[in-house]
Amino acid sequence: MKTIKVGLLGLGNIGTGSYKTLEMNKKQITANTGVDIEITKILERDVNRERDITVTPDMFTQNPDDIFLDPEIDIVIELIGGIEPASTFMLKALENGKHVVTANKAAVAANYDMLMEAAKKNKVMFRFEASVGGGIPILNSLTTALLANEFDEILGIINGTTNYILTQMTEFGLDYADVLKVAQEKGFAEADPTADVEGIDVANKLSILISLIFGSRVSPEEIPTEGITKITKDDIDFAVQFGYKIKLLATAKKVDKQLECHVQPAFVPSSHPLASVSNEFNAIFVRGNAVDELMFYGKGAGPLPTGSAVMGDVIEISKAIAKGSAFDHYAEDSIIENLNFVGEGQNKYYVSLTAKNVPGVMGKITTALGEYGIGIDSVMQLANDAQTGDDVSIVFILHEVTRERLDEALVSIIGNHFATAIKSIIRVM
Ligand code: HSE
Repeated sequence: MKTIKVGLLGLGNIGTGSYKTLEMNKKQITANTGVDIEITKILERDVNRERDITVTPDMFTQNPDDIFLDPEIDIVIELIGGIEPASTFMLKALENGKHVVTANKAAVAANYDMLMEAAKKNKVMFRFEASVGGGIPILNSLTTALLANEFDEILGIINGTTNYILTQMTEFGLDYADVLKVAQEKGFAEADPTADVEGIDVANKLSILISLIFGSRVSPEEIPTEGITKITKDDIDFAVQFGYKIKLLATAKKVDKQLECHVQPAFVPSSHPLASVSNEFNAIFVRGNAVDELMFYGKGAGPLPTGSAVMGDVIEISKAIAKGSAFDHYAEDSIIENLNFVGEGQNKYYVSLTAKNVPGVMGKITTALGEYGIGIDSVMQLANDAQTGDDVSIVFILHEVTRERLDEALVSIIGNHFATAIKSIIRVM
C-alpha cells in the first residue's frame, strides 16, 4: 500500500483537530482510499502543550525547511493562520513541489492569484475547503458535483461568532456588549473579536467564494463590509415584530452582467431557510440554473469540523497521487470580463429614527421620503408619553432604493428638522 507523508505547519486548535480526525478515523480512511496517510513532521514552537493526540517529540521541528525540503513529504498542511508568514510558507511548499492544504481564509483571500499560479506552475494541487464554512463541503461541491450549473447568486451566514452573538441577542433580548462578553468567556469569540464582529472574516470568505463561483477576483478590501457592532436590542426587537431576523449576510449576485457583493447585517424574512440558522452554525444558500436552490448547513468552526474539511482535502490529494493524476485543471478567469464589480444595488431598507413628538411629524417624514421616490412598506411608531415631550421612535421598512438615494433623503429629513436622529439603517432581504 502506498504511504503518503504529510508535513503540518501549526499544531494549535485546528492543527490538533485535523490530526485527531486522521487518528480517530485512520482505519476507515485507509480502507476507503487504499492509501496510508501519515503526518510525519510538525512545525510548532509549543511542543509541551497537553494535546489529546499521539505525537512524539521527534515529529516536531522549528525549521520550516525540514518540511519543504523533505523529499518524502508530498503534502503540506498550513494551519498557522494569518496572512504572513503563512502565505510565504505555502508558496515555498508549492515551489518545492508539495501539494498544499490550508484552512487560512485571510491568506487565501489576500494571495489567491499568487498561490494558484504557483500551484499551476509546479503542477501540484492547492486546496482550501476548510477556509470557508468550516466543516461544510461548499467549495468541493461547487467545483465538482455542481459544475454542471451556472450560478447567479450566493448568500451565506459564514461567521459563527457573529451568528452566535445575534442569536443570543434575539433569543434572550440581550445587548451586543453583554453577549460579546459571555461569548468571549465561553471561548466562542476571540479576545480581540475585531475580524469577526467587523465582518472582515466574512469578506475574506466571500472573496474566496466569488473566485470559485464567478471566476472573478474581488479582494476583501473591495467588498463593502459592515459588521454587527452597531446592531441594537431595539433593532432586533423591531425585526422580530416585522417578521424578520437579523443576520450577518455575505451576498454576491450577478445582476445584468454586473457582480453585486457585500457583507452586511440584514433583515432576513423569518420564513427564509437562513433565518433558522442559529448560534455558531453556518449556512450557504446558492441558486444554480439547473439544480435550483440549495442550502448547505453545518458547523462553520471548531477543531473537528474544520479538521474534517482539512483531512477531506488531504485524502482527495492522496488518492490523486496514488492514481498518478495529482494536478488540477485551473479554470481560466473567463467570466471576469463579463462582470463589472459593483458594491451595492437597490434594496429594501429598515430605518429607525427619532422625531419630535409633535402632531404632523409622521406626515412630513413620509412626504419627504415620497419626494425622493421612496415608498413605504411598513411603518411603526412607538407609543410614548405625549406629555413628556421626549422624542418618539419611528421605524420604517422602505421599498427598494439605492443606499445613496436613501442617504440623500435622510439627510434632507434631518436638515428640515422633521427627524432628530437616524439610529439604524439595515438592509432588508
Ligand atoms: N472566527 C471564525 C468564525 C472561525 O467565527 O466563524 C471560522 O472561520
